[in-house]
Amino acid sequence: MSQKTILTGLQANSTFHIGNYVGAILPMINAQKNLGADDMFLMFVPDLHSFTLPINHANFYQQILDNVKIYLAAGINPGLSNTLLYRQSFVPAHSELAWILSCFSYMGEMGRMTQYKDKSEKHDNISVGLFTYPILMAADILLYGAQYIPLGDDQKQHIEIARDIAIRMNNKFELQAPNGLFTLPKPWKEQLDFMGVSEGIRIRSLSNPEKKMSKSTIDPKGTILLSDTPQDAAKKIMSAQTDTIGEIHWDWENQPGVTNLLQLYYLFGIETREEAINYWTGKTRYGDLKKEVADKIETFLIDMQAKTRVIQDKEVETILINGELQANLISKKTLNRVQKVLGLRR
Ligand code: TYM
Repeated sequence: MSQKTILTGLQANSTFHIGNYVGAILPMINAQKNLGADDMFLMFVPDLHSFTLPINHANFYQQILDNVKIYLAAGINPGLSNTLLYRQSFVPAHSELAWILSCFSYMGEMGRMTQYKDKSEKHDNISVGLFTYPILMAADILLYGAQYIPLGDDQKQHIEIARDIAIRMNNKFELQAPNGLFTLPKPWKEQLDFMGVSEGIRIRSLSNPEKKMSKSTIDPKGTILLSDTPQDAAKKIMSAQTDTIGEIHWDWENQPGVTNLLQLYYLFGIETREEAINYWTGKTRYGDLKKEVADKIETFLIDMQAKTRVIQDKEVETILINGELQANLISKKTLNRVQKVLGLRR
């Protein structure tokens, strides 16, 4: 088997919600279990991405450490020699490559990013950073030659743009993988295969299942944060918005609330999606489904919070500093290759 590089990052401007957990952390845990000796496993904090919209800077440093504690409590093993955990801002090559890539990216393609369109509609005084954010994300990926990037469905376009920029630059400088300028991230379909899912994971808001669960919307009833008390989380599930059809079916179109609960049921349980669908299809008591999901999430949160509490800041900083040393070595090599091709270095 050829060597694989697997990478992901989760913004740390606030506490994670269960969508972040199942969209990115859970597939990373599974990926780490199947890691080959020659593979690389990189999980970082995209801290420079965090203030594309205004945040609370007073507790930002601590929030980053607390979020890394979640990686560890969830089961990411930082002790494997081919695993690195690091903060983006401690690896300057990210910013430098982002600038270079921005000169090979087009205004039109950035303007088409749905996340940019959505967020810029909801806020005033949109920063340039929000607009160019996918370019920094492309740099995060291309610096390490990552092929597999476990992510939720909302990030699909950002992977595609990273791939487009890499192809464009490889073509422009007539260098192709494997010895080329950039290794290409795999297309979306292969990302899904890698994560073992047939469609991208998108957890919906519990109060408005037409929308995704999100940290940025002011929707506390629709969002379960990993810091919510297990009892509060269970209450949110029990009052989740469903429909009046009266029969359980996997049907995003007509029953997004029920389908969202079914999705949570299998993601937080041991059944596969098919087993969960087979078991629940045709049943009429939405309350039973809610209760089962609420119990699963309550148990999950009790365990996760207990594990998070015992991890010390110092322990996290030591892991990160070690990861940053190595991430700097790897990323500098890529940056240097790019600098040479551009004529910035001999
Ligand atoms: P972020 O911080 O918004 O989200 C972190 C991860 O959580 C996933 N996610 C969801 N998955 C399922 N259902 C949801 N409702 C849901 N909401 C969020 C996201 O898809 C993501 O996987 N741009 C990234 C951070 C980033 C990054 C990178 C990721 C920066 N550079 C390089 C990978 C590689 C982001 O803002 O994710």
